[in-house]
Amino acid sequence: MNNHWLSIFAAMIGTDLQYAQQRLVSGELVAIPTETVYGLAANALSAIAVAKIFEAKDRPSFDPLIVHTSAWDRVEQWVQDIPALAHQLAAAFMPGPLTLLLPKKQIIPDLVTAGLPRVGIRLPSHPMTQSLLAQLDFPVAAPSANPFGYISPTTAQHVDDQLGSKVSYILDGGSCEVGVESTIISFEEERAVILRKGGTPVEAIEAVIGPVEVRAHSTSNPTAPGMLKSHYAPRIPFLLGNTAELVKQHAGKKLGVLAFSKPIEHQDVRFQQILSPTRNLSEAAQRLFASMREMDQMDLDLIIAEYLPEEGLGRAINDRLRRAAAI
Ligand code: TXA
Ligand code: MG
Repeated sequence: MNNHWLSIFAAMIGTDLQYAQQRLVSGELVAIPTETVYGLAANALSAIAVAKIFEAKDRPSFDPLIVHTSAWDRVEQWVQDIPALAHQLAAAFMPGPLTLLLPKKQIIPDLVTAGLPRVGIRLPSHPMTQSLLAQLDFPVAAPSANPFGYISPTTAQHVDDQLGSKVSYILDGGSCEVGVESTIISFEEERAVILRKGGTPVEAIEAVIGPVEVRAHSTSNPTAPGMLKSHYAPRIPFLLGNTAELVKQHAGKKLGVLAFSKPIEHQDVRFQQILSPTRNLSEAAQRLFASMREMDQMDLDLIIAEYLPEEGLGRAINDRLRRAAAI
């Protein structure tokens, strides 16, 4: 590819791994597909490159970034004192939608961790990004590729819509398979604690290491990830609860409904998204963010959503719905 001058006007979108690699080596930002959501990547070992991520996302510098690489046996270069439990979890779930917080070595710039002693390590399983990361001799820092506080992107188009002018390349790996961000785990005195519910369900983790504490959504823990209440927030007011009742309460407004499996009948409901007619939680997770984005573009006064079953991926979905509603 030679006509990269086009990137002055809009982000280039494509599948050119070599070009993506070149841009990252040059310290530029590249949006990458992962199985969870698209990430906004830069060389994690370069503070100058990482600073561009914060700038592009308009992200406060107190919010740390996750570092991505291709294989577990590479991470010793960047972290130390890896607990036995972490090795066990890595063997069971990596590559995949899991992030482990581990004590960082000095080579990871403080900007990446917002000054915290631990860094989030993740091995994405998306084949395109796996190949890209395997070709790089450094790891990449990557938050979700959305403006700070908005809904995470699950297609290359979502990234282009909002950050197109700020990235040098968008690697197009199709729609994200999992659809919600990785589960984040930290270790306290050799115990695992879940700080963000995500693409690896709590039940799957417990099947491998036994009962774990889930401390996601606690406001008393300032170092917990993604804990700002209004996160994943749509532009249009968003309510969560019993959809039939909420629709009645808000009759007369232009309503959008985000339902798990069944539509609701009411004259004021202008648009409905059904996440999974067969009540399949994986399908619902896959569609969640794209559905929220689509409704957010419409001429609606209010979006009304319902809770999904609080099990498996449903727990991560409910967490994102609560944050969208800021409750
Ligand atoms: O699935 C994912 O994890 C995606 C893809 C792109 O890998 N990434 C992602 O990154 O969701 P981000 O930055 O949007 O969310 C990561 C969350 C943030 O809320 C951040 O506060 C938290 O993880 N986090 C990162 N490093 C941390 C650390 N060292 N200690 C505590 N929280 C951390
Ligand atoms: Mg994010």
